[in-house]
Amino acid sequence: MENINILLVDDENSYRNILSKRLLKRGFSLFQAESGEKCLQIIKDNKNKLDIVVLDIKMPGLSGIETLKQIKKKYFDLEVILLTGHSSTTDGIEGIKAGAFDYLSKPIEIDHLASKIKQAFDKLLWIRGKREEKKLKLKMEEQMVATERLASLGTLSTGIAHEINNPLAIINEAAGFMKLILEKKEMLQIPRLNDLNMALDKIEIGVERASRITHTLLGFVKKQTAVVSKIDLKLLIDETLELLVSDIKNRDLKIEKNIYLSTGIIWSDPYEIRQVLLNLFLNAVHASKKKGIIILTLEDCDNNIILTIQDFGHGIPKENFKKIFEPFFTTKDVNKGTGLGLFISRRIMEKLGGKLEVNSDVEIGSIFKITFLKVNVFDNTKNEESSLWANVLNKIKGETKI
Ligand SMILES: Nc1ncnc2c1ncn2[C@@H]1O[C@H](COP(=O)(O)OP(=O)(O)OP(=O)(O)O)[C@@H](O)[C@H]1O
Ligand SMILES: [Mg+2]
Repeated sequence: MENINILLVDDENSYRNILSKRLLKRGFSLFQAESGEKCLQIIKDNKNKLDIVVLDIKMPGLSGIETLKQIKKKYFDLEVILLTGHSSTTDGIEGIKAGAFDYLSKPIEIDHLASKIKQAFDKLLWIRGKREEKKLKLKMEEQMVATERLASLGTLSTGIAHEINNPLAIINEAAGFMKLILEKKEMLQIPRLNDLNMALDKIEIGVERASRITHTLLGFVKKQTAVVSKIDLKLLIDETLELLVSDIKNRDLKIEKNIYLSTGIIWSDPYEIRQVLLNLFLNAVHASKKKGIIILTLEDCDNNIILTIQDFGHGIPKENFKKIFEPFFTTKDVNKGTGLGLFISRRIMEKLGGKLEVNSDVEIGSIFKITFLKVNVFDNTKNEESSLWANVLNKIKGETKI
């Protein structure tokens, strides 16, 4: 039997004690109170621990009915069974109207009380189940809204990116042309030549930033069919680090690699995995202080391969954990970050059936954890494509569009 916590409320000590002992013998857990006031206090002190209140109606001070009304007003996760005087049905009916589960007339038949308690508990379990279901549904709905919002934002922004590319190219051309004109001899005399040149520089910087954003967005959606091949993660990590050599040197950073794997072979899309690695490595480099260290750890865990990227940089405030995965969220200078790196990296990992998670403490550092899905791990013993593998392939192929 499930553990049922009962609060027994009766002002007659001897009667209450006898009833308690009998209920204990039947396997219930018991709290006791000698008045309505004490009953409310115990409920307040033991929130979430109680299930059923067995409540005497006739008590000095706060009556049973009054106590019941207060319970029902404040606590929706309790059922109340009333104990009324002999043949006092009007009290019982008033109690049911006030929300009691049922009432029993004294003298109480203990088995009768025990079965009423179980019925009341069943009702409680049903209500709790329904509540949990509702909560879960709400959470799923929220998640779906968020996913849809992101998906439509993705489609919308890539559409805009396409449209913006042409005017950007025209602006860039025109700025370059104006610069050429300003370099001509006859132009050296015109007033505020310097200001004009500076304004043109600003236009070019702005155009470059806008182009970076459009290219990142377009790069993400352009490739609609995934190129799936065998990847040696260790090699891919080294190759990706090669691309960052100058950033790493400029900051005098040390990269420590801990590899606890016999084979780091997975089947996936190397271009996309490289994009994720590049984003994460670059973020860690940008966050690190000079002469800092970045630790990369590659290990097996329940047949998944996990890569963690740990830095000891400025860290991320907890309230930003969600935001950093949203498009265009960046704390970097206007010309340094587009805020798309993590958004795209997470989308890629989820599409490939893996995960990208973060943990961080401000001023201590951050750990980004990439989980490569179990079925993406290449099994040396089977050289043929397994059905699991075929499923993964289909999943990747089918979900490459955003
Ligand atoms: N390792 C890290 N340490 C501290 N903050 C980080 C780290 N990685 C990401 N962040 C925070 O998350 C934000 C979003 O990162 P994200 O990679 O999405 O964009 P970004 O790096 O700003 O720009 P880009 O699009 O060029 O990558 C960053 O601006 C930064 O505030
Ligand atoms: Mg980034």
